[in-house]
Amino acid sequence: MQNNLFKMNYSTTDFTLGILGGGQLGKMLLQVTSRLSIKTNVLDPSDDSPCKEMCSEFTKGQLMDFDAVYNFGKKCDVVTYEIEHVNVDALEKLERNGVNVYPDSKTLKIIQDKSTQKDFFLKNNIPTANHKYFKSLKDLENIKYPCVWKKTKFGYDGYGVKILKSKEDFKNLPETEFIIEDLIPFKKELATTIARNKSGQIEIFPIVEMMFNETSNQVEYVLCPAQISPELNERAKKIALKVSESFKQVGLLAVEMFLTHDNKILINEVAPRPHNSAHYSIESCFNSQFDQHINSILDLPLGSSKSNSLAIMINLVGEFGHQGKVVYDGVKEAMLLDNVKVHLYGKSTTKPNRKMGHATVLDSNLENALKKAKKIKELVKVKT
Ligand SMILES: Nc1ncnc2c1ncn2[C@@H]1O[C@H](COP(=O)(O)OP(=O)(O)O)[C@@H](O)[C@H]1O
Ligand SMILES: [Mg+2]
Repeated sequence: MQNNLFKMNYSTTDFTLGILGGGQLGKMLLQVTSRLSIKTNVLDPSDDSPCKEMCSEFTKGQLMDFDAVYNFGKKCDVVTYEIEHVNVDALEKLERNGVNVYPDSKTLKIIQDKSTQKDFFLKNNIPTANHKYFKSLKDLENIKYPCVWKKTKFGYDGYGVKILKSKEDFKNLPETEFIIEDLIPFKKELATTIARNKSGQIEIFPIVEMMFNETSNQVEYVLCPAQISPELNERAKKIALKVSESFKQVGLLAVEMFLTHDNKILINEVAPRPHNSAHYSIESCFNSQFDQHINSILDLPLGSSKSNSLAIMINLVGEFGHQGKVVYDGVKEAMLLDNVKVHLYGKSTTKPNRKMGHATVLDSNLENALKKAKKIKELVKVKT
């Protein structure tokens, strides 16, 4: 059925795109499927899912549950996901039974586990920080400090990553499989996103710079384009394209990189889905990352991913000390600023650092854009 979707006399009514995960990334994908009138079904465990009111059909179920994912996928023509933590065995079986899963289960399986992901980089000559795998804390030996501890599975937004300064820091770590990585004293954290459709057409988004909040250690701003030399920019693009070329994913691949003090570029990690670092593309690029994901997985032509304006994306996260029903302060005031777009994710409850929305500022002048981004951060407070 999938191949008929965009023939001259296509019918959008007998085609269903399944999306695993009903969070904000899914919601922004639905804004694109709505424009193209593509029928969708979303699987998510929560009745409070941001996608629930927007999809054609909502299915309640656990994303790690084999039967829930398999039975859901069987009803769809193409299945994609907005989160890596889904049952990959069910995706494999769906593929065997003729359902198109993009990016495919093989790609997801490698990426789901930080250890196999790092091994994949090594095997494909992709520069990355040295790492060592440990099955248990009991096996720990010969560690040089400082270093970075990473849970191999189910980490996100820095939960599951810890910088260790001495053996003392191992206390309070959960008993789980993990890797120990060399600590990279980087100058900047860079990212890009690459879209690749089924026919092999590739589009790369600009190299952006992720700016972290020093207390929460989460991304506070994303700046497009990254303030780096043209030579570094080209090199970053080349390395990111090599990663995508190694996976040959269908769909998006977000690539996180470290720029070291001596201008080396190391790949930190990748994600086979839309990513926070490319939200700016909704306003700044003619085709956003969400447009390009849908284009890729439906094998539609990819338009340009070029950015038309300098942009800063500001994450709006739950304030400390506030947990419960959400109230957004200062949105109206932020919208009074020039060229500011606010996105609220529709989660009914907030908690500290939870991603509750974002705003994008467009401005041809970097200093003005930064001033506006800081102003928005001061104005908009996600509280209870
Ligand atoms: N090897 C490293 N050296 C220095 N900092 C690191 C290293 N690995 C991760 N970090 C820091 O921790 C953050 C989260 O790590 P990451 O591997 O990206 O996990 P997550 O899946 O939570 O995003 C990174 O964005 C970076 O700021
Ligand atoms: Mg990361």
